[in-house]
Parts: sequence; C-alpha cells; structure tokens
Amino acid sequence: MQSLDLLILVIISSSGDAKLGKSGIFDNVTLLVTRLGEPSHVVVVDFDDSLTKYVAPSSEGIVIKDQLIPKLDTNCISDFPKLKNLSLVSTGIREIRRGAFKNLPNLKLLNLSHNDIEEVRQGIFNHLPMEDLYLNNNKISRIGYKAFSHLHLRNLFLNNNKISRWSKDWFADSSVLILDLSYNLVEELPPNSFHLMSEPVNGSMSLIFSGNQLKKINNHVFNGFDKLRSIFLDSNLIERLAPGAFNGVKYVNSVNLNNNSLTEIRAEVLRGTQVDVLMLEDNKLRCLSTDLFRMEELDIDGNPITCFCVKTWLDWRERHSNPSIYHITNLEEECI
Ligand SMILES: *[C@@H]1O[C@H](CO)[C@@H](O)[C@H](O)[C@H]1NC(C)=O
Ligand SMILES: *[C@@H]1O[C@H](CO)[C@@H](O)[C@H](O)[C@H]1NC(C)=O
Ligand SMILES: *[C@@H]1O[C@H](CO)[C@@H](O)[C@H](O)[C@H]1NC(C)=O
Ligand SMILES: *[C@@H]1O[C@H](CO)[C@@H](O)[C@H](O)[C@H]1NC(C)=O
Ligand SMILES: *[C@@H]1O[C@H](CO)[C@@H](O)[C@H](O)[C@H]1NC(C)=O
Repeated sequence: MQSLDLLILVIISSSGDAKLGKSGIFDNVTLLVTRLGEPSHVVVVDFDDSLTKYVAPSSEGIVIKDQLIPKLDTNCISDFPKLKNLSLVSTGIREIRRGAFKNLPNLKLLNLSHNDIEEVRQGIFNHLPMEDLYLNNNKISRIGYKAFSHLHLRNLFLNNNKISRWSKDWFADSSVLILDLSYNLVEELPPNSFHLMSEPVNGSMSLIFSGNQLKKINNHVFNGFDKLRSIFLDSNLIERLAPGAFNGVKYVNSVNLNNNSLTEIRAEVLRGTQVDVLMLEDNKLRCLSTDLFRMEELDIDGNPITCFCVKTWLDWRERHSNPSIYHITNLEEECI
C-alpha cells in the first residue's frame, strides 16, 4: 500500500515538472476567439502543442497578441474549417516550421506582423487560401525558394524587414494585387524580376519598394505585366534608369521616384509606356526632355532645374494646347 502511494506521487510530480519545463508551443497563452454571430471570448491554453482542443471547429477568428510563442511547429494551428482571420501579432515568433498552418480552407487573413521571424521557409504558406498576408515588422532576411508560390493574394506586406536580395522564384505561379516591400535593404531588381508571377484576376498590381537601397533600375525589370497600377521607388538611392527600365509594360497609372539621386532621364525610358502620374520630386535633375511630356501630372519640385531648361518647357507649352507641366510658374522663379 505504501509503495503504491509513493508511485502516484512520483507521477504527479513529474507531470508538474513538464509544465514548469515550458517546452509546449502554447504555454499559458490567452486567445481571443470569435464565432459567427457571437461576441468574442477569451480562452486560456495552459500548456499544449496544438490549439485543436481549445477552439471550436466553427470559430471564424483567432487573435493572439502580446504573448510569447517563439516557435510554431507542425500542426500547431490546423483543422479549423471555418477560420477566416488568424492573427498572431507581437508574440515573439522566431521560427515557423512547415505544416504549422494546415487545413484552413477558409482562411482570408493571416496576420503575423510585429514578430521576430527571420526566415520564410519553403512550404510554410504555399497553397493556403488567404487573401491578405501580413509579415511586416519582422526580421526577415531569408526567403526560401518558391516560398510564396501558388498563392493568390490581394495584399502581401513584407515591409520593415531585412530583405536585401530579390528573387523572382519566390512568387512562381502566384498573383498579388499589392506587394509591399518598403523599408527593406533591397539593392537590385534584376531583369524580369516579376516574370514568374501571374497577372491578378481583378485589377492591376501595385509594387512598393520605397525606402530600399536601389541604385539603378535595370532594363526589363517589370517585364511580364501589360499594365501596372503603381510603382513606388521613392526614397532609394537611384541614380539612373536604364533606357529599357519599363520595357514590356504598356501602362502604369503612377510611378513614384521622389527622393532619389536621378540626374537625368532619357526620353527612351518611357518610349513604349504610358505613365499618367510621374513623381520626380527631390532628385538632382537639371532638365527633362519635353519628349517625356505625355503624362497627366508631373511632380518635379525640389530639383535644380536650369532656367535654360524652363525656357524650353515654356516654348513647348506655347505649342501644345494641353500642358502637362505643373508648378511651372514656381520653376520660372526658382530655376538656376
Ligand atoms: C500566465 O500569464 C499571465 C499573464 O498573461 C500571468 O499573469 C500569469 O502569472 C501566468 N501564469 C503562469 C502559471 O505562468
Ligand atoms: C476579419 O478581419 C477583417 C479585416 O480586419 C474584419 O473586417 C473582419 O470583421 C474579421 N472577421 C472576424 C471573424 O474576425
Ligand atoms: C495586424 O496586426 C497589427 C499589429 O497588431 C495591426 O496593427 C494591424 O491592424 C493588423 N491588421 C489586420 C488587417 O488585422
Ligand atoms: C472579381 O470581381 C468580381 C466582381 O467585382 C467578384 O465577383 C469576384 O469575386 C472577384 N474575384 C476575385 C478573385 O477577387
Ligand atoms: C529620402 O530618402 C532617404 C534615404 O534614401 C531617407 O533616409 C529619407 O527619410 C527620405 N526622405 C523623405 C522625405 O522621404
């Protein structure tokens, strides 16, 4: 009898030790769970490797915020047929293993922003059905081969990370409406950078590369899209646009090149491409050929435009009924 008591005591205390050892993925984690037509409720997971037991299959939203979940392992968030929104934000995630998100056939939004993710491994997102993927404000510097392939996203936010090298393979057979890579460390976009992407079904794409380290824009970079909504290249270090930078693209609604170091834009750059709004503020341009003046709006403040150049623009305006040059009266006074 006495020895049996002892045995029970040992079992209890060893399971207690496992809890104190903190080796579970979800360890004292608070979730906010939403079900259709009900106010969200709080669920506390004491200690487990998966959420399956704690969240009803009919749940549509799971939010985990300001907790500590350093590693997401295989099957930790899986088998929720109705789940639409999944947010794990400010939860210190450093690592995501393949299969962490599985069988989530109705997922619309996956918010993993404000974590410490360093690498997007191949296979962690492929074939998930979400439209919006937030990976902004992490520490991502490595992205695996085809890591974003087979996705049909409306929005992909990768801004405020540490990505320095672009690879077109990441997006093979994917489409995105808004791709935000602003405030990374990208130094170069190679020719055909977006070649393997599909054109979005509804609408045209916006590419956001503001605040990177781009020094020049190569030939054929955007080749593969007939039409783009906007290209943001502002606040880079761009000194030069290759003459064929926009080759292959017929129309872009707006191109933002503000706050770069452009000294010249050759007329060939826009030869085959209609751009409605061209933003060139805060560069080092001394002139711009009137051959480029086919846009609806040109923003050119903050450049050392010469008075001789402004004179050629005024002459051009005399001869054209629909001038596209804005702020030209200012430029007349401020030219150098
Ligand atoms: C669980 O977390 C809460 C805060 O989220 C904290 O107050 C509580 O002490 C934790 N409990 C354990 C057993 O760690
Ligand atoms: C999911 O997120 C979207 C956008 O933030 C929001 O409009 C919607 O109400 C959320 N739905 C649920 C079930 O949490
Ligand atoms: C994603 O999470 C961040 C950080 O909490 C929040 O600011 C943002 O609104 C969230 N976005 C969506 C669409 O849920
Ligand atoms: C495209 O737009 C149509 C109508 O605006 C809508 O019914 C359809 O669901 C949209 N498709 C996608 C993939 O967003
Ligand atoms: C201009 O670009 C530099 C980096 O090239 C950046 O540090 C600065 O904040 C930008 N300024 C504005 C007004 O965007």
